[in-house]
Amino acid sequence: MKILVTGGAGYIASHTNLELLNAGYEVIAVDNFSNSCMESIRRVETLTGKKIKFYEADIVDRDALRTIFEKEKIDSVIHFAGLKAVGESCSIPLKYFHNNLTGTINLLELMQEFDVKNLVFSSSATVYGEPKTVPVTEDFPLSATNPYGRTKLIIEEMLRDLYASDSTWNIAILRYFNPIGAHESGEIGEDPNGIPNNLVPYVAKVAAGVLEQIQVFGDDYDTPDGTGVRDYIHVVDLALGHIKAIEKLQQNPGLVTYNLGTGVGYSVFEVIKNYEKACNKELPYRVTPRRPGDIAITYADSTKAYEELGWKAERGIEKMCEDSYRWQSKNPKGYQIK
Ligand code: NAD
Ligand code: UD1
Repeated sequence: MKILVTGGAGYIASHTNLELLNAGYEVIAVDNFSNSCMESIRRVETLTGKKIKFYEADIVDRDALRTIFEKEKIDSVIHFAGLKAVGESCSIPLKYFHNNLTGTINLLELMQEFDVKNLVFSSSATVYGEPKTVPVTEDFPLSATNPYGRTKLIIEEMLRDLYASDSTWNIAILRYFNPIGAHESGEIGEDPNGIPNNLVPYVAKVAAGVLEQIQVFGDDYDTPDGTGVRDYIHVVDLALGHIKAIEKLQQNPGLVTYNLGTGVGYSVFEVIKNYEKACNKELPYRVTPRRPGDIAITYADSTKAYEELGWKAERGIEKMCEDSYRWQSKNPKGYQIK
């Protein structure tokens, strides 16, 4: 079965490609390398001993995307392609709307035209805004607090409208909590451009001696130790969730939505402690003011994914930190060739 993976060279996609290939799927990947490079594709091929059919193209370029649909008999699509930096989305919102929304509309129109109606979409816990209680279930109210989050919310709404108009679609909306870690080979992992925005990639660079000191964004939240609490999920568990979602689409479920998280929240201080254990050294940090827009606490209720997909996160925070550190140590400059 042929799966088209958009944004196929990116962080979560590379781990998903590996699991897809290992499970016997054929992978057709498309990426414009705006936040990735060919090396992740090559490494997945080496790790699996299997080939990925790769197209370098921008999904905003409809003709380029059409070529792929013309050449390949695609069964299902996993749609990862998108820009994802929250801060950047606030300074250049139109770029985010153009890339994420236009790219998705092109993809959906071509899927409709070529009668490919199985889709897995990368959504985010960001669509819950600031949840009133935790854990968060899929029926919580939705809102957006920044342009990036708004693109996820708008795409979700588009998918619900599309499904309401044509129930022959099968769509799995996956709301990821905080993906971290790397494949345990240390060969593929997260490779952010410049200084990382997110906690664990930043901690990894401090552990590797590339950055000097972790900044803890606020210790006065209403949480047990005052720092922000999140549901960190190992990227390999997340990748396996996509395989389950692809299997689910074969049963014609219609439109389904799942939280993918562990159900356990860890504070910033707890993450740092676990990372210190993984790298066996003390990590310098200082507490700075809160980051605007951050919420105190969120974590998932992923019962629905367990009951309907048979999926559950298996890897704990220690393994997440160990695997992150292995990737960082083996690849201090990431994939190096961006
Ligand atoms: P990533 O940046 O590593 O992967 C996204 C990939 O899409 C990149 O390789 C990029 O080059 C590509 N891309 C972007 N725009 C494109 C376009 N117009 N045409 C072709 N390729 C394009 O990010 P990731 O962390 O792997 O995230 C994958 C998806 O999951 C994104 O949609 C992201 O918003 C979503 N998501 C990520 C997180 C997270 O914390 N990493 C959390 C929730 C949701
Ligand atoms: C980020 C995105 C969110 C996305 C989510 C998924 C932002 C503002 N939000 O969420 O849209 O859905 O990833 O992965 O980028 N922290 C520090 N120091 C740092 C970085 C972060 O203390 O250098 C703290 C934050 O305040 C937060 C926690 O660490 O409490 C996690 O932050 P981060 O990794 O950026 O993820 P989120 O903010 O949860």
